[in-house]
Amino acid sequence: MQTPFQRLGEDKIRELCDAFYHAMDTLPEAAGIRAMHAKDLGPISNTLAEYLIGWMGGPPLYHDKKGTVCLTDPHAPYHIGPKETGQWLLCFDAALKAINASDDVKAMLHGPIRQVAAAVQNRDHSNAAEKDPNIIAVGRT
Ligand code: HEM
Repeated sequence: MQTPFQRLGEDKIRELCDAFYHAMDTLPEAAGIRAMHAKDLGPISNTLAEYLIGWMGGPPLYHDKKGTVCLTDPHAPYHIGPKETGQWLLCFDAALKAINASDDVKAMLHGPIRQVAAAVQNRDHSNAAEKDPNIIAVGRT
């Protein structure tokens, strides 16, 4: 069985990442996570592409630069609850559609990308909950 990297290739994965951040930039439903990102999405699109190229079975470009593929630390400054995770996955699905990914590539990625997103999630509640002072009072774990 081929890896997603073998199916898509580097150029298509880079296209996927550009489409992903384009979706984040334009979909009103993704405004919450768009606001967490820098104005210029070019650099992060390149970083995500390097990450996904390795994750999909290609050369470990991200690992070679950072020495790890753990995503916990880079996401720690951000509040990522179920709502934010849902927005991220919405953009990912929109990007797969935008690059005309085949149904079998979509099926290959569906479960694993949700597992990574669940691992990145670092809050049980989404941002709106923080507006309730009682919730802040019991801590922001
Ligand atoms: C679950 C919802 C997620 C949210 C809200 C989120 C948000 C963010 C934000 C705000 C940044 C920093 C961007 C910047 O520096 O301008 C970031 C970095 C990054 N994210 Fe996510 N992310 C999510 C899930 C994921 C997933 C599932 C992956 C991988 C499949 C991923 C891969 C990355 C990578 C590779 C970086 C760059 C890390 C570095 O600087 O080394 N993220 N993310």
